[in-house]
Amino acid sequence: MRTKIVAGNWKMNKTLSEAQALTTQVLGLCSAEVSAPVKVILCVPYPYLPVLTPQVKHSKVDIGAQNCSEHDAGAYTGEVSAAMLKSMNVPYVILGHSERRQYFHETGKLLAAKVDRALAHQLIPIFCCGESLDIREKGTHESLVRQQVEEALFHLSAEVISKIVVAYEPVWAIGTGKTATTQQAQDMHAVIRKQLVGKYGDAVAQAIPILYGGSVKPDNAKELFSCPDVDGGLVGGASLKARDFVDIVKCA
Ligand code: 13P
Repeated sequence: MRTKIVAGNWKMNKTLSEAQALTTQVLGLCSAEVSAPVKVILCVPYPYLPVLTPQVKHSKVDIGAQNCSEHDAGAYTGEVSAAMLKSMNVPYVILGHSERRQYFHETGKLLAAKVDRALAHQLIPIFCCGESLDIREKGTHESLVRQQVEEALFHLSAEVISKIVVAYEPVWAIGTGKTATTQQAQDMHAVIRKQLVGKYGDAVAQAIPILYGGSVKPDNAKELFSCPDVDGGLVGGASLKARDFVDIVKCA
């Protein structure tokens, strides 16, 4: 049995005081209302990491970053390395989010390097993949997602890939209020699982969590999380409200 994971991706939202208040509310609601063994992660903007990491200590909640550099150190103004994240005791990092692929031109080759840097510093990558609307309409979504997974992850050994979390996020469902149907989510998660079985064997593939992301809300989370290959969610907009986020956590 894979443990369910619900990760919030705050993206570029909240001031410092708002971030602290939201974290306090999430911690309070989680400790009062969540008894299931679900892993809860808040992926927050870089500047808040050293503030929020101690705030969640001794709680059920972990902190994650939303990106890291493909380099270890050096003259890369504005960048943040995996070693820096590790030095702040940050356990998770989102890599390959579609917004970074689209706006910052992140490619499969670059993401393979970022995955390597994260793993070299014992960070757990939450690796995102997913197709845009035009690809879905062309019917080539399965091969595109398989290609994204292969390019960024298939250089890893079976032992190393067992450490990562995959998130399938169809771009057409992100921030649009348009969720994939349970059938669409399960079908793509099964495609990814099958691809992992083909490369790494059944035991490794069955242990890798695959999260769904794209307009996950309290009223659709239960159904999505009940799919056999959906192991929880990566939540954007709804993670900015403690009540909604924890209601989603309770569906896992
Ligand atoms: P929304 O939940 O706002 O659609 O965002 C999903 C997402 O991009 C999480 O990484």
